[in-house]
Amino acid sequence: MSNPRVTPLLHLDAERMKSSFDRVPFGYSHDLHRLDLLSFDNLLKLAERYVPSTPDWFVAGSAPTPGTKFYSVDHGYLAPHEAMARLDQGAHRVLLKRLENHDSAFRDLLDQLFDQVIELSGGLRGAKVVRRESAVFISSGAAITPFHFDPEINFFAQIEGEKHYHVYAPVAVSEPELERFFVRGMVDIAQIDLAGRDRSHEHVFPLVAGLGLHQPQNAPHWVETGATRSISYSIVWETDRSRAAGRTRACNHYLRGLGVNPQPPGHAADGVKAASMRAVTPARMAAGKLLRSLRAR
Ligand SMILES: [Fe+2]
Repeated sequence: MSNPRVTPLLHLDAERMKSSFDRVPFGYSHDLHRLDLLSFDNLLKLAERYVPSTPDWFVAGSAPTPGTKFYSVDHGYLAPHEAMARLDQGAHRVLLKRLENHDSAFRDLLDQLFDQVIELSGGLRGAKVVRRESAVFISSGAAITPFHFDPEINFFAQIEGEKHYHVYAPVAVSEPELERFFVRGMVDIAQIDLAGRDRSHEHVFPLVAGLGLHQPQNAPHWVETGATRSISYSIVWETDRSRAAGRTRACNHYLRGLGVNPQPPGHAADGVKAASMRAVTPARMAAGKLLRSLRAR
């Protein structure tokens, strides 16, 4: 249960949480932009301390278009505090990950927000959280983050400047596309094509300070900042249940390669499929063995 003495920082509609959580993107307002913790000056000091922790930061340029391949964009050419000092001299994007491991005030904030969101979403219902992180994005004006999806549930909040956030409901991604990602056992940034995507699933959020959005797991998105520098904050998490769905999809990738049209996660064979993918090698052999046993039933 969240602490009733703490004023909620996210203004989430209980009905919307019930109807749309982790299925359809939706917007909300918040008070996070009022926190000194998330001011540019505080984040600049934090970025200087981040330099030795290379896995926890990422600096990239702007993508020329939303459909650009994610890792084809220039990156790694500046330290995070250097890019932050040059935001008005080029198009830079700085990501500081796992804030809670670098400052206890960010851990407290993550705990508070997570408790609020989980309570309103109806609780974890027996699932166990296996990864839970907060991050901040500091970007130049007119910078584009190209189209991709991430295997995590996200509550995203605009702190400063404007962002045009284009996010599609997860149903816009086909099972074979999801399977190609999960078979590689990756934990972030799944590159998929924007061209040809069904735009009836697209939601566009014009974000300014005090507005945010909920992004379901595997919901593809691309983002463009407004004319001036932008600061955004997000909390994300994965559960053991969603990881198991990823392993089921990895198994389905191999089954599809064997000529089967497999059922997506949410069916009776999930447990045996996910378990067969626990050992990464030889996954293809495991899928073949599984296929023979499923056919024998
Ligand atoms: Fe993303």
